[in-house]
Amino acid sequence: MSDNRPSWTSRLTFILAAVGSAVGLGNIWRFPYIMGQNGGAIFLLVYLTLILTICFIPMMAELYMGKFIKKDCVSAYESINPKFKLLGYLNPITGVLISSFYFIVGGWIINYVILGLKNTQITDFAAYFGTFTQTSVPTCIFTLLFLFMCVFFTARGVKKGIEFANNILMPLFAVILVGLIIFSLTLPNAHLGLEYMFKPDFSKINAHMLLAALGQALFTLSIGMGALLTYGSYIKNDKNITKSAYTIIFSDTLFALLAGIMIFPAIFSFGLEPSSGAGLVFVTLPYIFSQIPHGNIVSVAFFVLLFAAAITSGISIIEVPIASMVERFKITRTKACSILFCIIAAIAIPTTLSFGILDGFKILGKNLFDFLDFATSNLLMPLNALFLCIIAGWFLKIRGHLFLQNKFFAKLFDIGLKYIVPIILISLLYIGLR
Ligand code: PHE
Repeated sequence: MSDNRPSWTSRLTFILAAVGSAVGLGNIWRFPYIMGQNGGAIFLLVYLTLILTICFIPMMAELYMGKFIKKDCVSAYESINPKFKLLGYLNPITGVLISSFYFIVGGWIINYVILGLKNTQITDFAAYFGTFTQTSVPTCIFTLLFLFMCVFFTARGVKKGIEFANNILMPLFAVILVGLIIFSLTLPNAHLGLEYMFKPDFSKINAHMLLAALGQALFTLSIGMGALLTYGSYIKNDKNITKSAYTIIFSDTLFALLAGIMIFPAIFSFGLEPSSGAGLVFVTLPYIFSQIPHGNIVSVAFFVLLFAAAITSGISIIEVPIASMVERFKITRTKACSILFCIIAAIAIPTTLSFGILDGFKILGKNLFDFLDFATSNLLMPLNALFLCIIAGWFLKIRGHLFLQNKFFAKLFDIGLKYIVPIILISLLYIGLR
C-alpha cells in the first residue's frame, strides 16, 4: 500500500500546500470575529505570544511524525503503540466536524461572489446577512457546492490545483488585502479600530479568552487535527522541515494581521459591533465595498480569492479522513471521497439550518454551528495537540530525529514537547472549560 501513497513533487509544493492549509477562513473570517468577541488587542497579544512560543513545537512534531512514519494519522498512532489507535481516530473525526461548519462559511462566500456579480444593491448588510443565513435551500445548496468542490479536487489529486492557488492566487490575495487596508485606514474614525486592535486593555484578560486564543492559534495553523501529519507523510526527502514550519507560521500570521487591519478600522467607522459573532466579516466587508468606486468588482475579486484560500484549507481538512479511509479500509480514493461527502453532508446540513429552522436547537447554549466551531477549536484541537506532544515526546522519542546539528536546540525542543507544551495545554483547557 505504501508504494501507492501520494507524495509531493518538490519541497516547494509541500510548503505551498502546508501554507495553503494554514491560510484560509481561519485568518480572514474566524480571526477577526473571535478577536472581536474576546476584547481586541489583549486577545491579539495572547494569540501572538502563543504562536511565537509554543505552537512551533506541536507543529514540528506533527510534520516530523508524518514524515518519519509515512502513514495516515490513525495508522501512524497505531504503529507507535496499538493502544493509541483510538486517539488517532480523534484526528479524522475532528476533521469531519470542522468540515461541517467550515464548508458552510465556504458556501456563504459563494453567495457573496454571486451577489457581487449581480451587483445587487443592499443598504443594510447586517439585515441581509441575517436573512440570508436563515434561509434553508440556498444556504444548503451553497454548503453542498463548496463541499463538492473540495471533495472533487481531493479526489482528482490536489497537487496542481494547490500549486496554482498558492503560486498565483495567494500573492494576488495579499495585494488586494493591502489595497483594502489602505482604503480602510482612510475611513473616518479608522484610528479607533487600530486602537481596538493594538492597545491592550489588561483588565479584559480572562480564562475563556486565553482558551479562545489557544483555539484560534491551533485552528489557524492547522495544528491538532492531523492535517500537517498527513501532509508531512507525503514528504519525500525534505531535511529542513524547521524552515517550512517558520514559513507556515510567518505567512499565516501575516495574513491574519492584514485581515485584522482591514476589518477593524471599518467596523469602527461604520459603527458596527466588533463582538457580533460569525457574521462579522460578511457584514463589514460589503460596507467597505459599497464605498469603493466599482466596489462590486473588487468584491467579486476579493471573495473569489478568499474562496481559493478556503478551498486549499478545506482540501487539507478532508485529506485527513480520506487518507485514513484509503489506507485503513483499502478502498479507492474516489470511493473514500464519495463516502466522506455523504458523512459531512449529513452533519453540515443540520448545521447550516442552525441559523434558520433549527435555531431553537442548542447545545450548551450555542446553536449547532457555534457549538461545532467552539468544540473543535477549543476542545478537540487542544486535546489532539496534547496527545500528539505526549506521544511524539515520550513514546516516539522524536528528539532523535530532530535538529541533530544543534544539541542545545534539540534539548530545548524536547523539554518543550515533553513538559512545557503539555502543561500549558492542560492548564488552558482546565481554566478555560471550568
Ligand atoms: N488553518 C485553516 C484556516 O485557517 C483551517 C484548518 C484547520 C485547516 C485545521 C486544516 C486543519 O482556515
